[in-house]
Amino acid sequence: MKTLRERVALITGAGRRGGIGEAVARKLASAGATVVIADLCAPPPTDVPHPGIGQWEELQSIAADIEALGVPALPLQVDVTDAASIQAMLAKLLLAYDRIDILVNNAGAIFGPSPVMQMAENAWRRTLEVNATGVFLVSKAVAPIMVKGGRGGRIVNMSSLAAIRPRPYMAAYAASKAAVAALTQSMAQEMAQFGVTVNAVLPGDIDTGMKQWGYQLEAQIMQRPYEEVVAAGVARIPTGRLGLPDDVASVVAFLASDEAAFQTGQLINVSGGRELA
Ligand code: NAI
Repeated sequence: MKTLRERVALITGAGRRGGIGEAVARKLASAGATVVIADLCAPPPTDVPHPGIGQWEELQSIAADIEALGVPALPLQVDVTDAASIQAMLAKLLLAYDRIDILVNNAGAIFGPSPVMQMAENAWRRTLEVNATGVFLVSKAVAPIMVKGGRGGRIVNMSSLAAIRPRPYMAAYAASKAAVAALTQSMAQEMAQFGVTVNAVLPGDIDTGMKQWGYQLEAQIMQRPYEEVVAAGVARIPTGRLGLPDDVASVVAFLASDEAAFQTGQLINVSGGRELA
């Protein structure tokens, strides 16, 4: 059913093949939404290790695949840490469609995971900047557009299970995702009067480029085979498998729909029960 027909959805961090952003964009598009997919498309300004960045050609080809589903898909460059870059992206989006109904703050990254005692200051700052400040800046810019439109809206933020179950070496990432959870719950209360819901999804271990990079790093540090590290990760998940980007996209699509009108300020785990183990 095309339940999102005539809605315009903006999904950040959707420029990597096999990522959660791509899956969300496809899911919303298959429900009839026009999708605007945005990504950094440039190297991040840091020399600390990170899981990789979506590139322009990749973003364009994802948009082309989505258009084949029969809905418009607009690829745009954005740096979510830069208010001017966000404004430039929104100007192009509004010129094309003149509205935003759904915002999925999906862009995120991990920089230089390590024990706090050795963590580069730059790794901490950059992680907080992309994951927490990025969600703040994009939400701050998009929310007034939703209010002005007078049709309400949906904001879905990508937090992480790390926000409630922080693991060693991941202090910056966990802190940034806990910030996203808190921001979600504050903003939900502010936006309810405008018919805008604000919820967060907390994915567990989802099989994407970012997760594979994390396992590779762990294998390197622990001097264990990659397959062994992945198997140990899977063993901690009651459902016995890694999550798929589509598992997350299904929950996002629900939160973005009319069906979820009474859901706001909620933090929803998508983890295969990982936090229970
Ligand atoms: P991914 O690396 O495929 O997606 C992250 C995207 O964010 C990339 O396309 C990257 O280019 C983009 N990005 C990074 N910095 C940016 C910036 N400054 N401006 C604009 N875009 C930027 O990884 P994945 O796994 O699909 O992650 C998507 C979201 O889900 C992230 O927020 C991540 O933290 C979160 N998440 C992922 C989990 C997993 O197990 N894969 C678990 C929990 C949360």
